[in-house]
Amino acid sequence: MKALITGVQGFVGKYLADHLLSYGIEVWGTSREDSPLLCLKNGNVKIIKNDLNSEEGILYLLQSIKPDYIFHLAGQSNVKKSWEDKEGTFYANVNKTIFLLDACVRYQRENPNMRLLTVGSSEEYGRVEANELPIKETTPLRPMSPYGASKAAVSMLIQQYHKAHGLNVVHVRPFNHIGPGQSEGFVTTDFAKQVVELENNDSTPTINVGDLSSERDFTDVKDIVRAYHLIITKGILGQVYNVCSEKPISITDILNYFLSFSNKRFKVNIDASKFRPIEFKKYYGSNEVIKEQLGWIPEYSIEKSLKDIYLFLKNN
Ligand code: GDD
Repeated sequence: MKALITGVQGFVGKYLADHLLSYGIEVWGTSREDSPLLCLKNGNVKIIKNDLNSEEGILYLLQSIKPDYIFHLAGQSNVKKSWEDKEGTFYANVNKTIFLLDACVRYQRENPNMRLLTVGSSEEYGRVEANELPIKETTPLRPMSPYGASKAAVSMLIQQYHKAHGLNVVHVRPFNHIGPGQSEGFVTTDFAKQVVELENNDSTPTINVGDLSSERDFTDVKDIVRAYHLIITKGILGQVYNVCSEKPISITDILNYFLSFSNKRFKVNIDASKFRPIEFKKYYGSNEVIKEQLGWIPEYSIEKSLKDIYLFLKNN
């Protein structure tokens, strides 16, 4: 078995590659840069430079590698940044996906068993009413950020390609996912990094945070990649799957976990520049479909995931 992961050098890509390698799957990846082999715990990933800018270029890649599974992870995944660069977000998330979808339609004629998984987001749902919680796959899409709109467009495109061309594609809508190695700009790294950097200060240091009032649904990245593997192999083609814990937790509680891991006392400064134009107060998903159909349930507790992030930053 061979898998191709677009955006393999990203946060989720590395975990997914390592997970697939542990199953004896040969893993290839694309990257925007020229890159050496990616050496992971369970083996090596061969990396090909391809910025997914053309259907022909992607088709050539598929015909050369001949993957059975294609995981499309590449994209612009930062919600706040999507407000600052809407065009770039749409080009990265929608246009490049269209090139990939068209290339896959042609590649599937040569390899009818190939399967594609596209990564969307819980941000596709956008505004939800209190009586719509937990959010199901059937909840209407009312995206409220350029990022959410771009991923909702992908969601709709894949349904069209599945119906019009019989493309073997499944789409996932992960809610917030976390783990060691996530970049700055995401809440758990932003908080943990400050705690680790400031805990050796002599005085009482100040942590800058954004809006603490909302609640989100966090899942460990290792549970997320296990879900992606299950969905691409056993999921129903053309279907959408939420991947989430179904357990909302407030951002205040996330902060308090990190503060509790340290012996140091901190002051907390609410920084208005970190706020978004629109914020959802309570947001969590239903994982009933993936649980019932594929038997997936998250294995990592929120406390374990947060502790891992804190220790990773402390030791690196
Ligand atoms: N990033 C960040 N930094 N967020 C903060 C901070 C801070 O210092 N302080 C408070 N927050 C709040 C945000 O306002 C938001 O309510 C929540 O913490 C989570 O923010 P993020 O970690 O940036 O995640 P997100 O929910 O905007 O988006 C993530 O999850 C989506 C799935 O729901 C991203 O991973 C997306 O790519 C993903 O699709």
